[in-house]
Amino acid sequence: MGLSPLKLTVCISGRGSNLSALLAQQSDRGTYEITTVFSDQPSASGLNLARERGIDAVSLDRSEFNTFKEFKQALFEKLDQVGGDLIVLAGFMVIVPEWFTKKWFGKLINIHPALLPKFPGLHTHQRALEAGERTHGCTVHLVDAGVDTGPILAQSSLEILPEDDEDTLSEKVLALEHKLYPWCVAQFCKGGVKFEEGRIVWSDAAAREARALGFEIFPLI
Ligand code: GRF
Repeated sequence: MGLSPLKLTVCISGRGSNLSALLAQQSDRGTYEITTVFSDQPSASGLNLARERGIDAVSLDRSEFNTFKEFKQALFEKLDQVGGDLIVLAGFMVIVPEWFTKKWFGKLINIHPALLPKFPGLHTHQRALEAGERTHGCTVHLVDAGVDTGPILAQSSLEILPEDDEDTLSEKVLALEHKLYPWCVAQFCKGGVKFEEGRIVWSDAAAREARALGFEIFPLI
């Protein structure tokens, strides 16, 4: 008998295209089940995706709090309650507080639209173009107390073409994200990649699959 799927909370702030990709692939991956979609934006369109599928859609409204600090504290207390087995950040635009990253370290992952450690933060595509980069892509990483600094699990990359601009890069990198993130999440949930004694360890089978799919896994082997 197979293991039961891990329960995921996916955190979003906007359209939720990565959430869609995670939802679309959860049945064939069979290793995870999205049980909650969580947002700091009650109007995030991705919350509707959850509601349509009968998944818990949880959000907090900034306007109901006096200060951003109070809102942020309540937001992460709520996320702590609904977290499940793994929290997956997918376009969640709130910086995670240190207490939360410590409590959830190893069970909190993010996708970032750049080849970290290059271009943490915002406007990654524009910055990659301005820096004259030849390659660009996306990174899945564990979240630590820094911004986009946690241990890297995997990356997917592309060549920047002379005709590329911010829009074309954004579209192409997003397409890579939609393949890399569900695959990484599934590997994490079925033990193809583990975080043990402060190190990321990939199984041989997962490493072979990554190579076949054109993903780079970390640490480099
Ligand atoms: C993605 O590019 C993700 O890497 C970044 O925010 C964007 C979210 O897009 N963190 P979506 O909401 O998943 O469409």
